[in-house]
Amino acid sequence: MVNTSEQQENQKSAVAIKLEGVHKWYGAFHVLKNINLTVQRSERIIICGPSGCGKSTLIRCINRLEKHQRGMIRVDGTELDDDIKHIEQVRRNIGMVFQQFNLFPHLTVLENCCLALIWVLKKPRKEAEAIALNYLERVKVVDQAFKYPGHLSGGQQQRVAIARSLCMNPSIMLFDEPTSALDPEMIKEVLDVMVDLAQDGMTMICVTHEMGFARTVADRVLFMDSGEIIEENDPENFFSNPQSERTKLFLGQIL
Ligand SMILES: Nc1ncnc2c1ncn2[C@@H]1O[C@H](COP(=O)(O)OP(=O)(O)OP(=O)(O)O)[C@@H](O)[C@H]1O
Ligand SMILES: [Mg+2]
Repeated sequence: MVNTSEQQENQKSAVAIKLEGVHKWYGAFHVLKNINLTVQRSERIIICGPSGCGKSTLIRCINRLEKHQRGMIRVDGTELDDDIKHIEQVRRNIGMVFQQFNLFPHLTVLENCCLALIWVLKKPRKEAEAIALNYLERVKVVDQAFKYPGHLSGGQQQRVAIARSLCMNPSIMLFDEPTSALDPEMIKEVLDVMVDLAQDGMTMICVTHEMGFARTVADRVLFMDSGEIIEENDPENFFSNPQSERTKLFLGQIL
């Protein structure tokens, strides 16, 4: 059994995610360099930085969509090592939302949301549907439940993707540029859902360049460049008083 009493104890601890001295290479390319990051439970972290600096790679390592080669990553007290049970345990606690929604096009919205409830959590269909409808209601797309993703707007699809993650009752949500593929008028409806989640106490790491959102919800903003965390601060100080030249340059370009 993976969920030992020690792990249950850890899950209640204040630390949700811990990275120590994490390095990753793609072949010879050193993509993550000595990443150290501790995320407290209910903390909201925003990661920003130039294209190619390693933001997606970093958050993908946290639920083992990518494997780090040196250092330690621990999620809810479980270390991501080569033990598949540990990896499954970590993935059960984490929901992830991508830039490109990643919904199954041949399944309705409701079926998309029920899939893992039925096949992974072994819920009876009726119960799975009740859970899914509840989260679709929460993200305000319940009226789309019987449509196929291709018949929804981008903003609606992304809210379905968020609902699908929430169905699994994760304790942590990772977002990788969830609004950057959306038309401007749809960005707010997705951000509103994320603000609501944040206010509800969800532990969140979000890669985004939506700086208004960062100011509203972030406890900390991290700036990455060339595979390193260059600077981190609370949003107020991060934006008004950036320390490094690279951060200043970056903010000058996006603000
Ligand atoms: N599977 C891979 N194999 C080899 N190189 C990769 C792979 N995935 C990413 N890279 C490279 O690693 C670097 C970091 O990529 P990553 O996607 O983490 O950056 P990012 O900060 O998320 O960029 P963006 O803002 O464009 O999404 C880039 O130079 C990228 O080309
Ligand atoms: Mg990316």
